Amino acid sequence: MRDLARRRLPKMIFDFIDGGAETEATVRANRAALDRLALRPKVLVDVADRDLTTSVCGLPLSMPLILGPTGLARLAHPDGELAIGRAAQSQHIPFVLSTGSSFSIEDVAAATGDDRQLWFQLYLLKDRKLNENLLERAKKGAYEAVVVTVDVPVVAARERDLRNGMTVPPHIGPRNALDAARRIRWTAGFLRSGRKLSMGNLIEALGPEAKNVKTAAQWFHDLTTPKFDWSELQWVRSVWDGPLMVKGILRPDDARRAVDSGADAIVVSNHGGRQLDFAPPTIDVLPGVVDAVGSSVDVLMDGGIRRGSDIVKAVALGAKACLMGRPYLYGLGAGGQAGVESVITMLRSELSRCLALLGCSAARDLSRDFVQLDGIPAPANRARVT
Ligand SMILES: Cc1cc2nc3c(=O)[nH]c(=O)nc-3n(C[C@H](O)[C@H](O)[C@H](O)COP(=O)(O)O)c2cc1C
Repeated sequence: MRDLARRRLPKMIFDFIDGGAETEATVRANRAALDRLALRPKVLVDVADRDLTTSVCGLPLSMPLILGPTGLARLAHPDGELAIGRAAQSQHIPFVLSTGSSFSIEDVAAATGDDRQLWFQLYLLKDRKLNENLLERAKKGAYEAVVVTVDVPVVAARERDLRNGMTVPPHIGPRNALDAARRIRWTAGFLRSGRKLSMGNLIEALGPEAKNVKTAAQWFHDLTTPKFDWSELQWVRSVWDGPLMVKGILRPDDARRAVDSGADAIVVSNHGGRQLDFAPPTIDVLPGVVDAVGSSVDVLMDGGIRRGSDIVKAVALGAKACLMGRPYLYGLGAGGQAGVESVITMLRSELSRCLALLGCSAARDLSRDFVQLDGIPAPANRARVT
């Protein structure tokens, strides 16, 4: 799917999705750490019926997978978050709509049916009224949970974007015209609708400013502030009475603080290596966070999840479920809603097969005993899909 997306999307767009911060060490490390773990199968276990279901904060999931928040999905396909929301609905897993989504809270709610599971991801904007407005709209749209992302005090230097001159909305000029001409399907879609591309949730609040062309980092800088501390999370807790998750935790002490501030779940995440370069791989820090808070709240994780076996490893090490970002965006770029669905069904069948081969009939029964840390030396498993 990644190869397909690379062929179908202009380089600037593919790199925006695929890239990470600075040297991209953490992007690679997320994968390398997962690849190092070996699985310890049990034999002669009845695995004829495999149960993949689980729950997060009491909300049911058909498998331990969530489509994580990603901004501006219309960059990959004109149907953007509408297609992602519908794909998640058809597979009975949640989709977390980003504050920086291209379609709005209301658009995505209207495009999906009653049985959809939408969660809303909040970036703490410096204008509290705007945060309040977003949370009210999420509540009105029957979004089941709020995920506050806390690992972006400032936007990291994503050097591929800087080199490519990536802006929001993207600009096609002499530098990339040939590339755009070669990706005719994407370019036709972009010319039809993409030039209006903006952050759907903020258009009203921004007024005419919404039409400006800036880098993602500039947009973020203008809307947020690096000043926030834990009290801002406590404020969100005071105004949102549904499940509240905190995304971007990498230390047990921060996990404890988030729980003390009212979080119902923790998402161990380094933003897929897009924020602090050299942040540790998430699968390595997951067990410490689970030991610190796992008995009181659900712990989720993301970063580098590409296979059913990756989900098995994360759940075995204590995650209730995994989020993913890039894989479903590759699917979206490759084939819209069908592409996203295909990524989810691939992961579902891999997960089911992996459980069978592992001798475990329910994802919920996975435990640390199934994982051998440092079982596979690093160079032996250089996954083709990164
Ligand atoms: C293109 C793109 C945009 C993203 N936008 C957001 C966002 O708006 N909010 C957020 O909390 N995380 C965002 N993320 C991070 C993802 O939610 C997730 O943490 C990360 O992609 C997981 O790593 P993976 O891509 O290896 O699965 C984004 C990631 C990508 C690739």
